Order: sequence, then C-alpha cells, then structure tokens
Amino acid sequence: MAVTGKQKEAGNSGTDRRALEPCSIVIFGASGDLTARKLIPAFYHLAKENLLPPSYRIVGFARREKTDESWRYELRVALNQFSRTKPVDEKVWQAFASNLFYCQGDLADAAAYKKLEQLLTSFGSGPLRENLLFYLATQPSQFGCVIEEIHRAALLHKDGQGWQRIVVEKPFGHDLASAHALNSELTRYAHEEQVCRIDHYLGKETVQNILMFRFSNSVFEKLWNRNSIDHVQITVSEKFGVGDRGGYYEEAGALRDMVQNHMLQVMSLVTMEPPVSLAAEAIRDEKVKLLKSIRALTPEDVAKQVVRGQYFAGMVDSQPKQGYRQEAKVKPNSDVETYVALKLLIDNWRWSDVPFYLRTGKYLPMNASEVRVQFRPTPHVLFAAQSGQPLDPNAIALRLQPNEGIYLRFNGKVPGMSLGVQPVRMHFSYNAEFGAYTPEAYERLLLEAIIGDATLFIRRDEVETAWKIVDSIRIGWENKPLTNREFYSAGTWGPIAADDLLAQSGRAWHEPQMIK
Ligand code: BG6
Repeated sequence: MAVTGKQKEAGNSGTDRRALEPCSIVIFGASGDLTARKLIPAFYHLAKENLLPPSYRIVGFARREKTDESWRYELRVALNQFSRTKPVDEKVWQAFASNLFYCQGDLADAAAYKKLEQLLTSFGSGPLRENLLFYLATQPSQFGCVIEEIHRAALLHKDGQGWQRIVVEKPFGHDLASAHALNSELTRYAHEEQVCRIDHYLGKETVQNILMFRFSNSVFEKLWNRNSIDHVQITVSEKFGVGDRGGYYEEAGALRDMVQNHMLQVMSLVTMEPPVSLAAEAIRDEKVKLLKSIRALTPEDVAKQVVRGQYFAGMVDSQPKQGYRQEAKVKPNSDVETYVALKLLIDNWRWSDVPFYLRTGKYLPMNASEVRVQFRPTPHVLFAAQSGQPLDPNAIALRLQPNEGIYLRFNGKVPGMSLGVQPVRMHFSYNAEFGAYTPEAYERLLLEAIIGDATLFIRRDEVETAWKIVDSIRIGWENKPLTNREFYSAGTWGPIAADDLLAQSGRAWHEPQMIK
C-alpha cells in the first residue's frame, strides 16, 4: 500500500501548525445533533481564534430539504444555545456563515454525490476542490456506502492530487469482528493514514497533559512504576442518566460506551512507556504496546474482577430520577449495564502486580473524571506506630474535569504541641494558572484533522486491541442476568459489589475531590 509523499506528510505530526492549507470540509449526516451541538460551535470558535485555513468551505450533506440560507439560520439559532462563549460574535458569525453550504441528498444515491462533486468544483479547481475532509457523522452502518460513493464520485483518492481525510465518530463497531469489518471498509479506498478515528477524550486539554506531566517532569516519572505505586483508580462519573439515548444505550451499555474507548485511552496514556519521539506513530506504537500487555480476562476472571451495575429509581441533587428500565426505548427487563467497575493488570516490567481500578457510571453523585495514583504506604514505624493509625498514603490526582487540575496529597504536621500528622494537599488549577481558556475537545480534534496530525486519533490496531479486552468481558457476562447486588439507586456510587472489588485487598474507592 504505497503512500504518496503528500499523504505521508499529511499524516506526520511534525506539520507546521500555521501552514494550514485551504480545504473543504464535508459533514455527512449534517442534520444530526452532533453537527449543531459540537461541530459547528467548534468550527465557529476556530474561526473566532483565527485558526482555520485562510480559505475554507464547510458543506453539510443530509437528506432533509434545506437551502444554504435555512441551514445557516438553523445553525445560528443552535449556536446561541451551544456556543461555549456567549454572546455569539455577530461579525465573526457572518464571515464564518458565508462559508457554509448545504447539499441535499440521500447517502445511498450516487446522483447526490455527483451534485456534491459539482458544488465542490464550483469552489474552484485548486485546494478547495482537492483538499477534502469528510466527516462521517452518520450511522456506522452507512460508512461503507459513503466511502464507496465519494470514491466513485472522484472525491476520495488513495494517491491523488491534494489530500483527503475521513473523520469517523464512535461507536467504532460493537465488537472486534465488526470493528475489523468497518476498518476494512474504510481502508478500501483510503490509506490508514487518511482515517481519523475520534475519541473526544483525546481532545481534552487535561488528557493531553497526561503525557506532558509524565515525560516533562523527572520528579514524577521516577516514581511512576510498581516500586512506588500501590494502585491506580480511574473514575469517570456522570450525574446524568441515559436521557433520550435509551435506544443507543441498549446496544452499547457502559462497557462499550465508555470503557472500550475513553477509559482505556486514559489508562494507556497514564501507563505507556516513553515514546521514541513525539511523532504520532511513536506515541500510538507505545499505546498499542500497552493495551496489548493488559492481562486477558477469562470468564472466571470476569466474575471476580468486573462488576456491572444498573441504576434504579433514586434521587440526584434532591430530584427524583426514574430507573434505567423505565427510560424511553429501554426494555423493561433490560440487563444492560449503566455502570462498570473493573480491575485490570498489566503484564510488563513497569506495572507487574499493580492493580488498575476503572469505574464509570450514569446517575452517580457527581460529574467528575479523575485519575488517582496512590503510592505505597510508609512502613508502620515512627508516626504510624505512635498514633496506632496507619498514615494516609500519598497520592497524585489528575483531575480531568471539571475543576481541571492536579493535586498531590501528602502528610504534614498539625501545628501545635503534639506530633499529630494530617493529610494536606498541593494543588495546581488550570483556571488559576492559565485563566478560563478551555477549548472544547472538538476544536482541537477538528484542527488536527485539517492539519493532518494523527496523534490524537485512534489507530486501527489500537481500536481493535481495545475491543479484544472488552469482548472478553462480554463473553464473561453472556447469559448471566443482573443479580440484586448489581443494581444501584440513582444518585449513589454504584452497586455494593464495586466496593467489594477493592475491599478484597484492603483498598477502597476514593471520591473525587471537588477542589476549585
Ligand atoms: C460519550 C458517551 O462518548 O462520552 C456518553 O457516549 C458520555 O455516554 C460522554 O456521557 C462523556 O463525555 P464528557 O466529555 O462529557 O466526559
């Protein structure tokens, strides 16, 4: 599979950020929620920050009848609601909106792609026609058809003029076999380097900072191994239920929705070895190596190491919430998990025998994503021996969101005549240090896709390795309905079984701290 010089360059992380070539972006499935909620607000902010190429066009492709004008109007109304900065800057919007175009068509209709080709050609014969970013915001089952049609309409080439890239949203398949099939469809008419698989967690500042934190500070990296670390907890807790996504959730569940992608991505960044360079492939190689060294789970391991849960009616923030089985489009006897906690082990030199506890769930008591690295306790001498109480072990918490920051927890002397020791904290807050500028994950990801830097996108082998881990868990759950111990009341920290998972080894979950 030969890759042209241009395509190679396009997939190279060393690309000069300012050398943005003019391009056209086509969003397939443009009538959907994602376009109005995330994509257009992200493009608008990139335009506001002058980060888009000097010349660009954005084309929305969808089935509903609309004109350029009516699509722009619709997006302007949505922007009032979804923009992260308010009010919307009218001057920026007007300039931005003049680059928005709508192409009505059915995804399966070859004639619609001909129309799209004509629209793109009407932008000129140069880069606006040749440099194309296709954003697939459609059902995954439609990816194959779209790719084939854009190839037939001479819009997508493996080795042609300019560059073409395809951005794909999750869910990326629902198991290893389907992800594999999807990958084969995507790479039939495009090189792997032209495919940008999105995991929006990688677009978050705090997630990107994990590598900076680890590899630009010798003080932490020296401790980052089995000699110093007792265990690691990764929590992604959400205060929301499944809302109107019951239909999707019935197919996905928390394991596919959160663990397969966001949580394993965060875990691999926390645990991977230093890459040989900051090039996309070097970083992705290390992530894949790490994912491959996660110990495979047998059905017996799953029974011991993985806990699922489903919320029933309860109170969140003093508001009554219905149970998962009562949500719209959810089967009344559904066994789908809205919560997962699991223990993973990594079989490599650095992490051997260090447990990694991951948990995520809907309708938990707070919105908080955090990585807590807990260090080994001090020997039971000196202070601990004197007070009879074991000292609180040291910990570093990487707060991914909200109240983004990092804190180090250690022990200090309580002022006074006694030798009392108490845990205290040193805290770095993004807001306090850098101000409130927090770009949305999609802004960064869209920019990287235009630039052609693959670092923040998931490679084929990465997504497939993550599915292998998740598939082994699903096999362990097969034909096993939820038991009473696996239900939790909305607004609590999940089922009791999740506490037992840590209690077996004398450990306990730590609640993310809401430090401002
Ligand atoms: C999505 C999941 O990928 O991530 C949602 O489908 C989840 O179920 C969301 O709520 C969480 O993202 P964030 O950025 O709010 O942490």
